[in-house]
Amino acid sequence: MSKYSQPDFWTLKARKEGYPARSVYKLKEIDEKFGVFKRFRGKALDLGAAPGSWSLYTLRRMGAEGSLAAIDLSPLSRRYDKGLFDGENFRFLQGDMTSADIREAALALGPFNIVLCDAAPPTTGNNSIDAIRSLALSETALEYAEAALAQGGAFVVKVFQGGDSASLLKRIRGLFSQGKSFKPQACRKESFETYYIGLGKNGDPANCQRRKI
Ligand SMILES: C[S@@+](CC[C@H](N)C(=O)[O-])C[C@H]1O[C@@H](n2cnc3c(N)ncnc32)[C@H](O)[C@@H]1O
Repeated sequence: MSKYSQPDFWTLKARKEGYPARSVYKLKEIDEKFGVFKRFRGKALDLGAAPGSWSLYTLRRMGAEGSLAAIDLSPLSRRYDKGLFDGENFRFLQGDMTSADIREAALALGPFNIVLCDAAPPTTGNNSIDAIRSLALSETALEYAEAALAQGGAFVVKVFQGGDSASLLKRIRGLFSQGKSFKPQACRKESFETYYIGLGKNGDPANCQRRKI
């Protein structure tokens, strides 16, 4: 039996508040601390979106003011969305965020004002291998941000600590006016995950759609 088979405080809270996964409270905490969605108008991109808590949080948070594109290998849960995933301001691309066709389809929906990535590889139990695989996804997410995030935009990405995650934070600090590392309370205590947050993307928004990732 999995050690996570018993729903914990955050999982029960998520179900009660209409979210398929406890991960929503990590984004909520990040949003409350860093103001990621403050004065948000525009488009957001959610990488590694299933079962859909971050997408639901984003859609509820931005209301009719914005639109969201989401990508995952797996389908989204339809249990809690109350039709939000059928809305005209939402587009789901099922596939691999590292593949050329998914990148191309996502870029066509940009430029974005927020890029979120909570993608995680299937864990092996070997922390080094998991950290390397996770870092590859986080780096891909940063490439989406480099290519498709508008000037002033915000970026949130999950990383498994270990490996060379410090170099990713350095790249984020080079691309954004602020780059932060933050572990929300809703992360499991034993988890190696943390989040990097980039605020205020530098650069020319007119060019971002044309750049290749
Ligand atoms: C922790 S879950 C994301 C939870 C989500 N933020 C939520 O709140 O519901 C990680 C997700 O990353 C996805 N993922 C992993 N590798 C991926 C890839 N190469 N392309 C797209 N999605 C991927 C997995 O399918 C999984 O659904």
